[in-house]
Amino acid sequence: MSTSSVESVLHENRVFHPHESFVAQANLSGMHAYHALCAEAEKDYGGFWGNQARKHIHWHKPFTATLDESNAPFYKWFEDGELNVSYNCLDRHLATRGNKTAIIFEGDDGSVIHVTYKELHSRVCRFANTLKSLGVAKGDRVVIYLPMSVEAVVAMQACARIGAIHSVVFGGFSSKSLHERIVDAGAVLVITSDGQFRGGKALPLKPAVDEAMSMGGVESVKSVVVYRRTGAECAFNPSVDKWWHDVEAGQSDQCEPELVGAEHPLFILYTSGSTGKPKGVQHSSGGYLLGAMASLHWVFDLKEDDVFWCTADVGWITGHSYVAYGPLASGCTQVIFEGVPTYPDAGRFWKMIQDHKVTIFYTAPTAIRSLIKAGGDLPKQYDLSSLRLLGSVGEPINPEAWMWYYNVVGGGRCPIADTWWQTETGSHMISPIPGVVPLKPGSCTFPLPGIMADIVDEVGHDVEKGKGGFLVIKRPFPSQVRTLWNDPERFKSAYFPPELKGYYLAGDSANRDLDGYFWIMGRIDDVLNVSGHRLGTMEIESALVGNPLVAEAAVVGRPHEIKGEAVVAFVVLKGVRPEGDAAKKIAADLRDWVGREIGPIAKPDEIRFGDNLPKTRSGKIMRRLLRSLAKGEEITQDTSTLENPSILEQLKEAIK
Ligand code: WTA
Repeated sequence: MSTSSVESVLHENRVFHPHESFVAQANLSGMHAYHALCAEAEKDYGGFWGNQARKHIHWHKPFTATLDESNAPFYKWFEDGELNVSYNCLDRHLATRGNKTAIIFEGDDGSVIHVTYKELHSRVCRFANTLKSLGVAKGDRVVIYLPMSVEAVVAMQACARIGAIHSVVFGGFSSKSLHERIVDAGAVLVITSDGQFRGGKALPLKPAVDEAMSMGGVESVKSVVVYRRTGAECAFNPSVDKWWHDVEAGQSDQCEPELVGAEHPLFILYTSGSTGKPKGVQHSSGGYLLGAMASLHWVFDLKEDDVFWCTADVGWITGHSYVAYGPLASGCTQVIFEGVPTYPDAGRFWKMIQDHKVTIFYTAPTAIRSLIKAGGDLPKQYDLSSLRLLGSVGEPINPEAWMWYYNVVGGGRCPIADTWWQTETGSHMISPIPGVVPLKPGSCTFPLPGIMADIVDEVGHDVEKGKGGFLVIKRPFPSQVRTLWNDPERFKSAYFPPELKGYYLAGDSANRDLDGYFWIMGRIDDVLNVSGHRLGTMEIESALVGNPLVAEAAVVGRPHEIKGEAVVAFVVLKGVRPEGDAAKKIAADLRDWVGREIGPIAKPDEIRFGDNLPKTRSGKIMRRLLRSLAKGEEITQDTSTLENPSILEQLKEAIK
């Protein structure tokens, strides 16, 4: 690891102070309130989080211990406490908020459904009973492969209700990726739909499950439950496949929640790392829920009458913490959207904010950039006056996009919470608290209370302000990943390298300016961030090398105006290096191949062919040279260790 490439390039001097009217009504108001909480956490770390856990969560059996560090880094929080996450999200609101709208669902075609807390509770109970009737028990794994829908939330909540562990697989992943996750998790049941609507089209989903089920090694799966969404014809294997509406018919709408210990796994979510195999990030019940709720309270300043809209898919961590769990546990009304932001036109988001009177809007920089491009003036045609707070997640937001979001969408009145966090952290770690922190466009500002985030060098020493280094979190926190499913050794080595004093290594580099603001610089490992999605370069390389034509492949990222980063692959074929139309044809085939192996999000933007890759004499691929080539830069770096300099010329140009 080296910090040499991690120097700050940002010189942002603009500061936006929170408006007095916002500060006056904020859940956490003013710097002194923030400092008081931070001081409380410094003084009595366990006590601080214990208080938060009692404040936010309904415990059926109160915990007596907070943090157990005896088996580091396998930390435990609130271990002897018992709860049920679905009870926290539904039952506890019934007396006071039973008739309040929990979910406003807007379909791709614009149709809208309102679901109250009472109705959602009944639906979750019915589906929980359905799962039980299919033999699913506490601790069993259930893979959920569904589009954005009320049903996806019902399925997740139903698992939580009976103590089953769900693993949601994003609907954009291919059958092969789905298969890998089903096998690794040892799932007993898969929940899917016939298809999904996107941009006015009905797209199939069930065929990917059929393919995955035909790949072998899936004997653990006893049933596949299929929700009918598009009505498309689909193959049906009566020995495992069951229609959702059939198996649910006649089930009771009452289901006692299964009480679980705070450390009982709530879910596994696979994410990319620096090897070819995705990591099964395992989260807890108590600590995870606390992170989601505390951050909604602090960062999103959530109030009883807010209408909250997080645009993330439930296939990602953001859709877990800020769609399926946090908003419901906090008793708020939220919007869930099926479709794409540009259909029927690029005003879709703005129209939905207007129609549903959204007050808090949370989306990704890549969506913001694409909507600027598709119609930067469009927001002005809609009444966005209901908005009071904006959020951003997934990658650093560039200052230009930040300013547009602030002025054009937020009318210059809404603070922007640029939330830095990860699948592994479960909830926000570093983010402005809007009634507290003056904003700087592009900075995620300061850690939340009780989050001991810092920047260190290769040996874990703090770096001075103004210098770059590795982003770490020095103390265990409640919502952090507990282990990697089936792979505790990788958990230790990936996140707690011995040279870093036991700190949690986030995998990002960061810089702190002289005012102490955090600026995220990018990943330090071979992970790309394409449209806010994490992709391991190794995963794409293994997919490419799996193609019979390919001898060798190296994948790097290149800056992209909309997606943040684009995938560029350098490929050596087994036969001769193709040129002209032949090269174009093979490149197109390989892109499709990657789409099938991983999913369309992983398709390289560009493929270049060489007789070899630039390597050192010891055979190591020189990725920094490939990164320069991908960007179209002249190679000015030291190439003296390169074994085959002539190869650079070959790889310099895109296929014409
Ligand atoms: C990046 C998404 C800068 C970062 C919640 C991190 C960010 C990775 C931000 C996690 C942000 C996320 N500013 N970078 N506000 N938010 N990232 O696991 O590189 O899909 O490590 O979780 O996204 O991606 P993941």
